Amino acid sequence: MKVVCITGCLGFMGSHFTRACLKKGWMVWGVDKKTYAAHLDLLPEFGNNKNFRFLEADIVELDHIYDVDYFFNFAAETHVDNSIMDSARFTRTNIVGVENLLELIRGKRNYEMPTLFQISTDEVYGDIINGRHKETDPLKPSNPYSASKAAADMLILGWHRTHNIPFNIVRPTNNYGICQYPEKLIPKAIKYLTLGKKIPLHGDGSYVRNWLHAEDTASAILQIVEKGEKNKIYNVSGNYEDSNIKVISKVLNIYFGKNVSPEQYIQFNYVRMGEDIRYSLDDSAIRSLGWTNSKIFDDELVKIVEYYKNKFLW
Ligand SMILES: NC(=O)c1ccc[n+]([C@@H]2O[C@H](COP(=O)([O-])OP(=O)(O)OC[C@H]3O[C@@H](n4cnc5c(N)ncnc54)[C@H](O)[C@@H]3O)[C@@H](O)[C@H]2O)c1
Repeated sequence: MKVVCITGCLGFMGSHFTRACLKKGWMVWGVDKKTYAAHLDLLPEFGNNKNFRFLEADIVELDHIYDVDYFFNFAAETHVDNSIMDSARFTRTNIVGVENLLELIRGKRNYEMPTLFQISTDEVYGDIINGRHKETDPLKPSNPYSASKAAADMLILGWHRTHNIPFNIVRPTNNYGICQYPEKLIPKAIKYLTLGKKIPLHGDGSYVRNWLHAEDTASAILQIVEKGEKNKIYNVSGNYEDSNIKVISKVLNIYFGKNVSPEQYIQFNYVRMGEDIRYSLDDSAIRSLGWTNSKIFDDELVKIVEYYKNKFLW
């Protein structure tokens, strides 16, 4: 059995990972600041498990960490549009927060230092028109969000070299699944449909994203814990790549139960400054550990549309 800390445990990906760890019978110390993106209704579910302990805290202000085997940092400000409007929160949580975690881990005796798992993102590499980014590629972030995530990765490499802090950095592609806050493409589209409004879409909808289910991200991280190499960066890719307009078309067809022409439901040409055209990752390193995606995008999308149709998220 392992004892772990999961920050951002009430967020989208952190909650899927928390569930996966509790299912394994691990002791989970969940930490979350309860920002607007936190799902408070998950607390009774996790709290019912005798292995779960919750602390409402900001990772920037955390002044003690219990002895744990692994420290998984999912806590972050995560929405690119917000970072363009107000970058200070992103610098604070995504960079200063990680520095604080590194310092807290450094303060432990060597044999008590947990491995820090930082949940980074494919966005740190910037976009790529053809081909796929490898873990060794230089970081070229395009916006304040991805710049703050890239900075955090650099802090970890520096603290590792100087202070020997054990780490793994995981760089997943765009996640999808239930419990995602409706500022992100798929739940946002369903929310706008529910409200009878047109879905705002960046540009002409031709930007390409790679989609990875949050449960597959959780299983990938667990595979790295069990079989991965310590102090290494792992890309994790989804098994579905498509343009945003194609993804929204699928959402619309499921929502209305028939094929509809997307144009009438979409407000095009919403501009995001610095927009990345396409992300794509080479994740052969994690696949060589025996990990593979288990979720099928089209099947999961049906469940997601159903979920958000019935549950209005503020
Ligand atoms: N969503 C994606 O598609 C995606 C893809 C790749 C990587 N990531 C990364 O995965 C991680 C989780 O993303 P998500 O989409 O689940 O995020 P989210 O926005 O859904 O949830 C973030 C959680 O962190 C908490 N939090 C925010 N600031 C905090 C702070 N200062 N201290 C403590 N808790 C704080 C929030 O309350 C929330 O519960 C992030 O680091 C993100 O950069 C996300």
